[in-house]
Amino acid sequence: MISLGPLQLRTNLLLAPIAGYCDLAFRTICRELGGVGLACTDLLSPQGLLRGTATSLDLAKTNDFDKPVGMQLYGSDPEIMAEGARWAVEHGATVVDINMGCPVDKVTKKDGGSKLLTDLSRAVNIAARVVKELERCTIDGDEWTRRGGGPVSPGARVQIPLTCKMRLCWHTADYESGQACSPHLARMLADVGVVAVTVHGRTTEMKFQGQVQLAGIARVVEAVDGRIPVIGNGDVRAPEDAVRMLRETGCSGVMIGRGALSTPWLFRDTWRFMQTGEVASPPSEAEQLAVIRRYFGLMRTYRDDRYALFQINRRVSWFARHLQRPLSNGKLESVKPFKEAIRIARTAPEVLEAIDRFEAGELRGGVPEEPDAVAADAS
Ligand SMILES: Cc1cc2nc3c(=O)[nH]c(=O)nc-3n(C[C@H](O)[C@H](O)[C@H](O)COP(=O)(O)O)c2cc1C
Repeated sequence: MISLGPLQLRTNLLLAPIAGYCDLAFRTICRELGGVGLACTDLLSPQGLLRGTATSLDLAKTNDFDKPVGMQLYGSDPEIMAEGARWAVEHGATVVDINMGCPVDKVTKKDGGSKLLTDLSRAVNIAARVVKELERCTIDGDEWTRRGGGPVSPGARVQIPLTCKMRLCWHTADYESGQACSPHLARMLADVGVVAVTVHGRTTEMKFQGQVQLAGIARVVEAVDGRIPVIGNGDVRAPEDAVRMLRETGCSGVMIGRGALSTPWLFRDTWRFMQTGEVASPPSEAEQLAVIRRYFGLMRTYRDDRYALFQINRRVSWFARHLQRPLSNGKLESVKPFKEAIRIARTAPEVLEAIDRFEAGELRGGVPEEPDAVAADAS
C-alpha cells in the first residue's frame, strides 16, 4: 500500500486537482462513492489564503469527512509558499502539495506552476523551504488522526508531508531527446524531504494534447529508485487505463482528473477491478440521478444556489453521458431535453424539478445521438 511519508493511503487512487471543478462538494461525492485514497484541493494562491480573500477561502474549504486531503499551493517565492504551507497546516491539510505542472499563462508568467521546470534550483529551494516550515508546525497525534492520518503513539507530533506535482518537462523536444528534467527534479526533491511526486505524463508545451507518455513517467520511477513513491497521471478514463499505467510505468499510485468529472464512481470501480479483476456494471439510472441530486445539494450547502446553478449547468453534459439508454439501432437515446431543462433553469427548485421529470420518464427523445458524439460532448 502506498505511503506518503507518515500517511498510509487506503487505496492508491487519487483525485486530481482540477481548478474550478474539484471543490469540496465534488470531492465529497467521489469519496462517498468510494475508492479514493487521497483528494486534493484545486490550486490555491498562498497570497490569497494569507489575505483571506473569499475566493481562496472557498477553494480551500474542507471538513472532517473530506479527509485525508491535500492542499495544493502555487507560486515561486519560497517565503510566501512557506507561509502558505503553514496556513494549510493550520486549516486542516493532511498533505501539502506544490504545483510544478500548471501550463496556464496566468500562473507561469509569475514563475509558478510548470515554469518551475525551467529553473530546478528555484523549484528545489521552494520545496526545501516549505519542508523546513512544516518541520516547525507539526500537529498533535489526535489532530493527525482526525485528518485521516491513522493512529500514532500517544504524545507524538506529526509533520505534515509535502508532495509535488509536475509534468515531464517544459519543451517537448527535450523529452523526445531524453533530456526531460522530471527524473532529475524528482531525485532532488526527494533529497530535500519531499515524500512523493505526481507526474502528469505530458510536457508543458503539450498542454492537454497528444498521448500521455507512460515511458516518461517510468523514467521518473526509475530515477527515484524506490526512495519515494511516484504517482502517475494522465488520461485514465477506465479501470483498465489505471492498471496499464501501474504496469507500464512501475508507479505506486494513479491520479485521476477529467475521467472522474463524468464518472465520479471511477475510483470505486477501478479499486474493485484492481482487487478482484471484476468489471463493475454502471450504476442504475436511479443511482446516477441520486448522485446528481446529492452533488447539487452539497454545492448549495457548501457554497450557494448561484454557484450550484453555474456548476450544474456546465457539467450536465458529463453527467448525462451515462444516462443515455442504447437503442436497438445502435444509437443512443437523446437526453437533450433534460440537458436543456437544466441549462435554462434559473432557480434550484427548477433544477430539481427537471431531475424529477427525467426520472418520471419525461425530457427524453428527439434525434438519437451517435455514441461518438456523446463522448465528444462529455470530454
Ligand atoms: C481545467 C483543468 C484544471 C486543472 N487544474 C489543476 C490544478 O489546479 N492543479 C493541478 O495540479 N493540476 C490541474 N490540472 C491538471 C490535472 O490535475 C491533471 O494533471 C490533468 O488533467 C491530467 O490528468 P487527467 O487526464 O486524469 O485529467 C487541471 C486540468 C484541467 C483540465
